[in-house]
Amino acid sequence: MATDSAQLGSQLAEATLNESVSALKAEFSDRVPIRSIISRTDGGSGFAGQHVRIGGWVKTGRKADKDAFAFLELNDGSCPGNLQVIVEADKGDLGQLVPTGTCVVVDGVLKLPPAGAKQKVELRVEKVVHLGPVDPAKYPLPKTKLTLEFLRDVVHLRSRTNTISAVARIRNALAYATHTFFQKHGFLYVHTPIITTSDCEGAGEMFQVTTLISEGERLERELIKNPAPSEADLEAAKLIIKEKGDAVSQLKSAKASKEEIGAAVAELKRAKENALKLEERSKLQPGIPKKDGKIDYTQDFFARQAFLTVSGQLQVESYACALSSVYTFGPTFRAENSHTSRHLAEFWMVEPELAFAELKDDMNCAEAYVKFLCQWLLDNCSDDMEFISRQFDKTCIDRLKMVASTPFERITYTEAVELLIDAVKNGKKFENHVEWGIDLASEHERFLTEVKFQKPVIVYNYPKGIKAFYMRLNDDNKTVAAMDVLVPKVGELIGGSQREERYDVIHSRIAEMGLPIEPYEWYLDLRRFGTVKHAGFGLGFERMLLFATGLDNIRDVIPFPRYPGRADL
Ligand code: 4AD
Ligand code: MG
Repeated sequence: MATDSAQLGSQLAEATLNESVSALKAEFSDRVPIRSIISRTDGGSGFAGQHVRIGGWVKTGRKADKDAFAFLELNDGSCPGNLQVIVEADKGDLGQLVPTGTCVVVDGVLKLPPAGAKQKVELRVEKVVHLGPVDPAKYPLPKTKLTLEFLRDVVHLRSRTNTISAVARIRNALAYATHTFFQKHGFLYVHTPIITTSDCEGAGEMFQVTTLISEGERLERELIKNPAPSEADLEAAKLIIKEKGDAVSQLKSAKASKEEIGAAVAELKRAKENALKLEERSKLQPGIPKKDGKIDYTQDFFARQAFLTVSGQLQVESYACALSSVYTFGPTFRAENSHTSRHLAEFWMVEPELAFAELKDDMNCAEAYVKFLCQWLLDNCSDDMEFISRQFDKTCIDRLKMVASTPFERITYTEAVELLIDAVKNGKKFENHVEWGIDLASEHERFLTEVKFQKPVIVYNYPKGIKAFYMRLNDDNKTVAAMDVLVPKVGELIGGSQREERYDVIHSRIAEMGLPIEPYEWYLDLRRFGTVKHAGFGLGFERMLLFATGLDNIRDVIPFPRYPGRADL
């Protein structure tokens, strides 16, 4: 969770105040991050004359002045900008230094460039310390502008591109901001399990975790190599037992010596053990074990069915009902066959849970958190946000400013449906039907936040029929205390609710929704013993990144995207 970028940020602020300070070495490395030079307000000119070691990858390189020297644009990922590096031919093999993607570590002296140059400072190389060469004919990332779609086929190298590295820094900043926000407000970070036996959303979209398949395959291979004993083998083993038994009886009646009888008894014992083993092996069946026609999960790794979690909420509730304000932040998994630009099979979720809190407190917390994230990016990631704004979405910085400073609209689901029906009456065309009782589609959500209100909208009190079993039933018996935060560009960013704390009500809701009670008994205990009003929400971390950057596809804001048909690396 800790990042050296914030520390570096404050050091930079100090450095900017005092231009005579010397260039800052990276911690735990003897190189100077490029950011600590070029991100100063003077662009690094105040460091002219200083000797530094720089490491990075060549963005672009070219030889000049009849191959007397080379210009390299070097980037080390510490910021979007590059440092211009000049290498003379006697300092290194220029042909090896210039290809895009080459890694170099160089010692040199920072110099003011000739008047009129774009850079504020450049590095004259004195020594090439390391060179990690690239064969340009084979390097998968040519110098030309590459589409994000193309880059999805080279996820292991795409972090070297300007866009993906900017997204990585923004993602890191949002994670740091998340912990900062919740820690500042007295929330405790709880690690909820990734493997679970309860389906939080009850939507049946879980990936199963099992060793039955690999075990079944292993057994199948083993039985081919070493087949199970046949009936005849078992009969033969029984015959041996009989023979060995007879031998013992004969020795006994012949009054043989103790030693002789002992040896024969030992042989009999071995024969019995061998027969038992054979009998057990003869029962082995290749494939998945079954009992009464169904898969026998008692033989699975956890002796029961287990899954990857779709949400840490249920477990984090047990900590909220003891420690009051908690949050979990981790990967969640959904096996929905969605091919949209807003769904991943593996995504990260931030889930605070507040005891002694109602829906209104939940909405206040969600609004404060989203505003904090936006302000954080404005304060800490301006260079990356400016890059993204130039390349992808001119409006992204204004959108952050607007969200950070404007109160969110709050409307009930019923009001939202009325507004949408009015819009349809006035000629607005939606692909999906609008009617009370049906869930809002993404196009409806985006209409509300982008067109109708032009700011974030919190829709609350949804029909119980379209929401999860754990949401608190309102007095009207028709709606539950749910809330979704909708934002421009994305639609649903947050889903949350007040939780049903009344034992009888939640018990009948589970039954009503056709869910089995047994797996939720522990969850019901939270209501049986010392129940409390509580509420929480889940923010889709990648959705927040989409919102912040304005990028179009969720597959580009997570380092290693997983979606139907793809799980590279
Ligand atoms: O609305 P959801 O399903 O809510 C829950 O899981 C609750 N248990 C959270 C809670 O109350 N603690 O998911 C929460 C958010 C959504 O609003 C959306 O932003 C994101 O998670 N999300 C996804 N993001 C990417 N890919 C998917 N397949 C997503 N499904 C949900
Ligand atoms: Mg939702």
